[in-house]
Order: sequence, then structure tokens, then C-alpha cells
Amino acid sequence: MVDYTQLQENQIEIIVRDFTFPWTTEQASREKWQRYFQEQIQHKRFVYIVQYDTTIIGYGSLFYKSEYPYFQARNIPEIHDIWISEKFRNQGYATKLIAKLEQKARELNYHIIGLGVGLYKDYGAAQKLYVKLGYIPDGIGVTYKYMPIVPGEKYCLDDDLILWFTKKLN
Ligand SMILES: CC(C)(COP(=O)(O)OP(=O)(O)OC[C@H]1O[C@@H](n2cnc3c(N)ncnc32)[C@H](O)[C@@H]1OP(=O)(O)O)[C@@H](O)C(=O)NCCC(=O)NCCS
Repeated sequence: MVDYTQLQENQIEIIVRDFTFPWTTEQASREKWQRYFQEQIQHKRFVYIVQYDTTIIGYGSLFYKSEYPYFQARNIPEIHDIWISEKFRNQGYATKLIAKLEQKARELNYHIIGLGVGLYKDYGAAQKLYVKLGYIPDGIGVTYKYMPIVPGEKYCLDDDLILWFTKKLN
């Protein structure tokens, strides 16, 4: 039985234990989740936790005021930090999670929702999924650290090099 519920404070330590990845530290992970929880209290973010029976298998959030200036200027909330545990992938859980986040945005009277995706292979599944769900590029091209890239300049192909997508909510 799979549930999608709002992040609770007592889940933070479980998430830190199970979702601290090799590229980060336990402390950084704890700080991130405490920040998400605080942002949720302050109505800046809504976090869904995906649970299979009693096990947390993923998460994703709606960040109302994106750090991306194009979204900020147009009042477009950002679907942010989506993750489904490897063992549970390709079973529709992210699709359902995104539908829940879109519904949350509708309830808050947003008309457009957005998200950003990295350009290298680790993001391949996400790239395909977003297009399949009707997200289209915002037309601004790629950004680096939230700023439009300048043709001919050199950039590092890392997590800060992002292509942004939007979708109309009806
Ligand atoms: C992206 C991610 C959230 C998808 O979760 P999921 O629960 O497996 O996704 P769903 O089962 O709902 O969707 C399946 C669709 O996603 C895409 N997809 C999923 N796994 C894929 C893979 N290994 N290769 C290519 N496309 C894939 C396909 O479009 C697939 O639909 P299709 O089978 O009809 O082609 C998951 O792979 C993940 O956590 N990846 C690592 C974190 C990440 O990239 N997060 C997004 C950051 S922008």
C-alpha cells in the first residue's frame, strides 16, 4: 500500500538515515531536511513523502518561490527535489507524486507549474518522464546557477547547468 503524505518532523531522521547519498554528508542532509520542514511551516514549500507500507521510498516538493528568476517573476512554483528509491522505480510512483504536486499547485490557484532538469545521463529518466507528462521547455535555454548561459562561454556540465520546463495547469 503506497501513501503520499505531507512531511512530518519525526520523519526527518529516518530520511537522513536512508537518503544521505555518497555525494553529501549526514550533516548537510539533516540541514537540508530541517530547512525543508521550516519552509513548510512558513508556507514556502510543501513536501510529499512517498511511503510503501511503513518504508519511505521517495519524496518530492513544491517550492512556491523558485530561486530561478524567470519562475519568480511569473509566480510559477517549482517542483523540486524528486526522488524515488531505485528498487521502486518504473512503477509509476513519480508520475503519481508529480500529479499530487500539480494538484497542490492548482488548489493554491497557480496556473502554471515548472521544474528544472540537469543535462547529463543521471537525469535521463527524469528528462523522459517530464516530457511524457506534458512539460515543455520554457524557451529561455539552459541556465547556469540560475542565470542564462552566454553562447561561446565555457561552463561545467554539473548540477547547476539546468534546462527549465513549464506546464499549464487546467
Ligand atoms: C526520475 C525518477 C524520479 C522517476 O521515478 P519513477 O517512479 O521511476 O518514474 P515513473 O515510474 O513514474 O515513470 C516512468 C517513466 O519515467 C521515465 N523513466 C523511468 N526510468 C527510466 C529509465 N531508466 N530510463 C529512461 N526513462 C525512464 C520514462 O519516461 C518512464 O515512462 P515509460 O516507461 O513509459 O517510458 C527516478 O528515476 C529517480 O528518482 N531518479 C533519480 C533522481 C532524479 O533524477 N530526480 C529528478 C531530478 S530533476
